[in-house]
Amino acid sequence: MREGAAAAGLRAENLSRIYPSGEGTVTALAPFTHTFPAGLTAVVGPSGSGKSTLLNLLAGFDRPTTGRVLVDGTDLHALSEAGRADFRLANYGFVFQSHNLVTILTALENVEFPLTLAGVPRKQRRERARALLAEVGLSARAAHLPSQLSGGEAQRVAIARALAHDPRVLLADEPTGNLDSHTGERVLALLTGLTRGGRTVVLITHDPEVAALADHTLRVRDGEVTADG
Ligand SMILES: Nc1ncnc2c1ncn2[C@@H]1O[C@H](COP(=O)(O)OP(=O)(O)OP(=O)(O)O)[C@@H](O)[C@H]1O
Ligand SMILES: [Mg+2]
Repeated sequence: MREGAAAAGLRAENLSRIYPSGEGTVTALAPFTHTFPAGLTAVVGPSGSGKSTLLNLLAGFDRPTTGRVLVDGTDLHALSEAGRADFRLANYGFVFQSHNLVTILTALENVEFPLTLAGVPRKQRRERARALLAEVGLSARAAHLPSQLSGGEAQRVAIARALAHDPRVLLADEPTGNLDSHTGERVLALLTGLTRGGRTVVLITHDPEVAALADHTLRVRDGEVTADG
């Protein structure tokens, strides 16, 4: 944990999401309160149970029906739209099942991209991007476009990009879902390595072997979340 222990970290308070559905409603996420410890938390549960709903609320991509999300004491959903976008840029990294790389940028430029948005000077962001590509084992692919990378390579570039600005919180939705088991393991080893230095990583996975590697587990079933230590 970083300093300011009481308010530090990622916290969900009475967080819920109800969607309209036809004449009625769907409780995608029932109210729950949880402080995410530093380290890797796996979120597991059947399809349609509410895992992505939870992640989207933690990210501020979706608005809660009740409750709030606190990041080091800042109420994410109380920020303006622009304020939330800036806050996200400064504090969050994301890795999704489809890597969402920018197709017209090289691997190196993709990793640089968040730093460009953050106004980091060119030389500095180039160096940082090169170091990150080396960390994910892709120095030799720096000049490749996403279409010239394998699925696992593209996913590793996406992880390097998510780490470019050293985010406080890393959110990942099935990042190993499209990968063969060997590449998936490599991606996962990267993600578990990320929790050094007090970072909070929240990882949705269907894979019990992946979940077994996590420090903590959240189980979601029909929108009800329970923590497993
Ligand atoms: N925008 C939306 N409008 C209405 N209902 C939604 C919306 N998003 C999700 N839901 C519903 O909320 C429930 C939870 O969906 P969610 O995407 O969180 O599941 P999930 O656990 O991520 O599933 P999967 O493992 O298949 O990705 C589902 O019943 C889904 O149909
Ligand atoms: Mg999902």
